[in-house]
Amino acid sequence: MAVERTLSIIKPDAVAKNVIGQIISRFEQADLRVVAAKMVQLSQSDAEGFYAEHKERPFFKDLVAFMTSGPVVVQVLEGEGAVLKNRDLMGATNPKEAAAGTIRADFAESIDANAVHGSDSTTSAAREVAYFFAETELCPRSR
Ligand code: TYD
Ligand code: MG
Repeated sequence: MAVERTLSIIKPDAVAKNVIGQIISRFEQADLRVVAAKMVQLSQSDAEGFYAEHKERPFFKDLVAFMTSGPVVVQVLEGEGAVLKNRDLMGATNPKEAAAGTIRADFAESIDANAVHGSDSTTSAAREVAYFFAETELCPRSR
């Protein structure tokens, strides 16, 4: 399987719960490597642009309000099949439907405050990584 990169965001609810390290440990245990990371307070326009694909959805306004409600940790994860692997580690969008042992099952309360974001395809990953990081900010990890 190919080595991929994917964008991960630890959302404001998980940062507020002080579980940044526990979430990053899940990635490391699954052999994903952090190749870029920063903590940021997203502006309204940052969040709107990031979630532009959901602009017409009824939950868009609440999603933007939630994503700007506190700092987030944005990171690029690298590894074999990183996009799908991260989605598997995250669990379903609605934590009530997320499989036991997934990040959302263990750390999220509700569908709108669901602990983590992860790119849903390699195409999304390329756009999302570039949205937050310059190519020169990525540090490929020797394997
Ligand atoms: P989506 O891309 O469908 O989910 P995922 O984060 O699993 O890729 O939706 C983006 C975010 O929008 C989701 O993480 C939480 C929020 N959201 C809601 O608040 N209500 C909803 O009904 C859906 C589908 C998403
Ligand atoms: Mg999505």
